[in-house]
Amino acid sequence: MCGIVGFIGNRDCKEILLYGLEKLEYRGYDSAGIALINEDGVKVFKEKGRIADLREGVDESVMASRGIGHTRWATHGVPSKVNAHPHQSTSNRFTLVHNGVIENYDIIKKAELADVNFVSETDTEVIVQLIDKNVNSGLSVEEAFRKTLSTLKGSYAIGLLDAQDQDTIYVAKNKSPLLVGLGDGFNVVASDAMAMLQVTKQYVELMDKEVVIVKKDSVQILKLNGDKVERSPFTAELDASDIEKGTYPHYMLKEIDEQPFVMRKIISQYQDDNGQILLDEDVRNAMLAADRVYIIACGTSYHAGLVGKHYIEKFAKVPVEVHVASEFSYNMPLLSEKPLFIFISQSGETADSRSVLVQVKEHGYKALTITNVPGSTLSREADYTLLLHAGPEIAVASTKAYTAQLAVLAILAVDVANAKGIKLDFDIIQEFGIIANAMEALCNDKDRFDMLAKEFLSTTRNCFFIGRGIDYYVCLEGALKLKEISYIQAEGFAGGELKHGTIALIEDGTPVIALSTQEHVNLSIRGNVKEVVARGANPCIISIRGLENDEDSYTVPAVHEDFTSLVTVVPLQLLSYYAALHRDCDVDKPRNLAKSVTVE
Ligand code: G6P
Repeated sequence: MCGIVGFIGNRDCKEILLYGLEKLEYRGYDSAGIALINEDGVKVFKEKGRIADLREGVDESVMASRGIGHTRWATHGVPSKVNAHPHQSTSNRFTLVHNGVIENYDIIKKAELADVNFVSETDTEVIVQLIDKNVNSGLSVEEAFRKTLSTLKGSYAIGLLDAQDQDTIYVAKNKSPLLVGLGDGFNVVASDAMAMLQVTKQYVELMDKEVVIVKKDSVQILKLNGDKVERSPFTAELDASDIEKGTYPHYMLKEIDEQPFVMRKIISQYQDDNGQILLDEDVRNAMLAADRVYIIACGTSYHAGLVGKHYIEKFAKVPVEVHVASEFSYNMPLLSEKPLFIFISQSGETADSRSVLVQVKEHGYKALTITNVPGSTLSREADYTLLLHAGPEIAVASTKAYTAQLAVLAILAVDVANAKGIKLDFDIIQEFGIIANAMEALCNDKDRFDMLAKEFLSTTRNCFFIGRGIDYYVCLEGALKLKEISYIQAEGFAGGELKHGTIALIEDGTPVIALSTQEHVNLSIRGNVKEVVARGANPCIISIRGLENDEDSYTVPAVHEDFTSLVTVVPLQLLSYYAALHRDCDVDKPRNLAKSVTVE
């Protein structure tokens, strides 16, 4: 995790670096720092906390047109000023920011740097100390940098300053994302184009194990052995306004509200001129050739995968397994003869998912990535990509990406069903229109969800979500949302399963949120609600028009039975949002989390 930025050019860059780091806070926000270099040398400013805290500590009078910056999500060493980046070598000649994990840092420390006095607990400090040592042994800085990188095992995106050379930022990447941005009279470095959109839209993608010598008017990419690499830039298809909150108090609320728009966008992106679903033919053929689909994902994307399994099995009649990436990576099940792997990842950078993708490719299996970020690592490394078209998602708690994932998975399943000549009882384009309208109606009913959150969730210690079938999968997502941002201990359960143990936790007033949108299990889930109410639970039933009952707390508009997840998740997102507000939690930046998890 962590985010890095760098600027080298023709104007004072303090504000550019700080603004860029703010845009990268989704990658980590427990401490931050910048290093500025000018004729007087290198100045480092670091703080524990957010970029806003760092901003207060930066000396306004220091003018510099070169610098690097970092926002941290701690892995090695607690969040503190000492452990915050940039880190410097003992001689103070080299200053470095790093995103990633150096797996062999302890070995290097003992074998090569036993006489160095380390000041931080980080793995990162090893890199900067080793570069200094390699330079002292007679190598040029570039040679020492490449030699050091060859020694490292693990992941890194690095920005390095040399106090004796104001004209260069040394950059390197392996597994962690990093881009170099091109400007007129300046160049920049960033973990994500979002950080530098205010100055440029032109970027050069970097591959793993590449080094870049960035100067104000040139960018030279090298392999670790020193061979030169030529690569054309691309234009980031992002607008600075896409990443602003506008009049919203939080990104999460903005992103919840964007869901109807995203649904309509997805319809337009995956539709031909005749109003038929249009999918990349290669993706369709890969699906048709597979005897089993393996969906691999983490967190919210894993929950989307569970609903995707329902779509693909029910519509396209292809068996599907859904696996948590971090488990699959080390405990691969017995695979079918012709597997197709689908990686679902909002960011396209999640390290656990990538680790599975690397293994899958080693075995020669085909892989499809469903992601929101074109050009992301998982997209580049898979055989095929389907984009979510959800626009940048910035709040740590994923909302619009989840519904977009469901929509794209449904389109994939319907397309394969069509190709197989399987008749479906709905027109997906029409259904998506109905769903977008239903989402809009829910987003317009925020006061009601605010009240329900106050009633059920403002003081509770824990909360259970129950549902059956696809409602159960949405319960898992609802519970994750609630715990992520309000810190209420929340768990999703299959309606029938709660009584096999967890019902022991139900006390007087424990909120139990029950979803009932599936006719064939409506009576059973309502029976499960009776069981918890008999033990003192405070039930909040969310039903769908047509199955509603007087006891229900909320009824969502009617949509096709197979697509209710796209609609019922909206009340759960809004309940979590308002619960977090009632409990004074930081909605967009919950404690301990980061949006893009680039460490395994
Ligand atoms: C992190 C985020 C979650 C997200 C998960 C998977 O844990 O906090 O919100 O669902 O990563 O991310 P991905 O980008 O792969 O969908």
